[in-house]
Amino acid sequence: MSILVTGGAGYIGSHTAVELLNAGEEIVIVDNLINSQIETIDKIKQITGKDFKFYQVDLLDGENLQKIFEENSDIESVIHFAGLKAVGESVEKPLEYYKNNLIGTITLLETMRKYNCKKIIFSSSATVYGEQVSVKYVETMKRGETTSTYGTTKAIIEKMLEDIYFADNSWNISILRYFNPIGAHDSGLIGEDPKGIPNNLMPFIMKVANKEIDHLNIFGNDYDTKDGTAARDYIHVVDLAKGHLKALEKLNSEKNGLYVYNLGTGTPYTVQEIVDTFKKTNNIEVPYEYTERRAGDLPIFYADPTKARNELGWVAEKNIEDMCKDSWNFVKTTKQK
Ligand code: NAD
Ligand code: UD1
Repeated sequence: MSILVTGGAGYIGSHTAVELLNAGEEIVIVDNLINSQIETIDKIKQITGKDFKFYQVDLLDGENLQKIFEENSDIESVIHFAGLKAVGESVEKPLEYYKNNLIGTITLLETMRKYNCKKIIFSSSATVYGEQVSVKYVETMKRGETTSTYGTTKAIIEKMLEDIYFADNSWNISILRYFNPIGAHDSGLIGEDPKGIPNNLMPFIMKVANKEIDHLNIFGNDYDTKDGTAARDYIHVVDLAKGHLKALEKLNSEKNGLYVYNLGTGTPYTVQEIVDTFKKTNNIEVPYEYTERRAGDLPIFYADPTKARNELGWVAEKNIEDMCKDSWNFVKTTKQK
């Protein structure tokens, strides 16, 4: 039996592919490489010493998607990472985001149904909680008002999956809400390497430390947090990847259902703490300045990870030093040879 990994050449997908292969699973990756490189596929093979099939196919291309299911009739479940994820860009290009993320997912689900493959894990985001009174997000909370098109695509897909399960409970669905994934595989071979100027904190710090950008802007130091900078629940991407194996185990062992889990550590760190830890752990300079708050940012949010611990037996194991060390190791390994 094999697992179809959509978006498996991307940041979280590639780390999950490694963990799946290391656990002895058979996988097939489909990715159109719109935000990733073909070399990542070889690196996954290099890290694991395992082979698998890769298809450069767009999820909107239903015909070729069907061919994947035809050629791999043992696909039993899907881990669905493929999607566009840049929050700012999604606000500027809503149609592109709705088309790619929604139509891509619908095409995938239709194809799965056609081949009677009804087990899926979906990459959602803490962003679906929106702005809420509570800053500790727990799965029993309702989805909030989303603040970007990107976030809206996640909320719509979650709702779509709920409706699909309601109509046909032979589906078996796990929705995973990621908090802030950072870090990289400890081989240094795979990690996050966005094209152009990054939006997210850790990729930006990595480029400043590598002297590709002269300094980091810390967006706001007047929040009501311990040092005035905003706080988030950063999670090591390898811990996150392992969460998918646990979610899959649960789908394989329990009766069909629709399950929702936060994947976070439950411990928030401020921007200042991340910068200071990165500098100290790696013994490297990260020049920064405090600037205005970024529009739409919340002062603090983090996961209540209790449900994932109790039901999946999953807890994040790596600490903030590991996240900073492995992020920098990826830059050193890939960019400073
Ligand atoms: P990524 O961009 O590195 O990976 C996504 C992959 O999907 C890329 O390789 C891209 O080429 C591929 N892709 C996009 N559209 C496609 C399409 N139509 N057909 C085929 N392939 C397509 O992103 P990531 O950080 O690995 O995120 C993976 C998933 O997790 C995404 O759905 C993202 O929204 C979600 N997520 C990410 C974060 C984060 O901080 N990275 C947080 C919450 C949720
Ligand atoms: C953002 C998205 C969220 C998405 C997540 C992961 C928004 C509002 N939310 O979360 O939907 O799931 O990315 O892709 O965009 N910071 C700086 N300087 C920088 C960059 C960031 O100070 O150059 C600060 C931010 O103000 C924030 C923290 O670092 O407080 C983390 O930012 P970021 O990595 O962009 O993640 P989020 O904003 O939490």
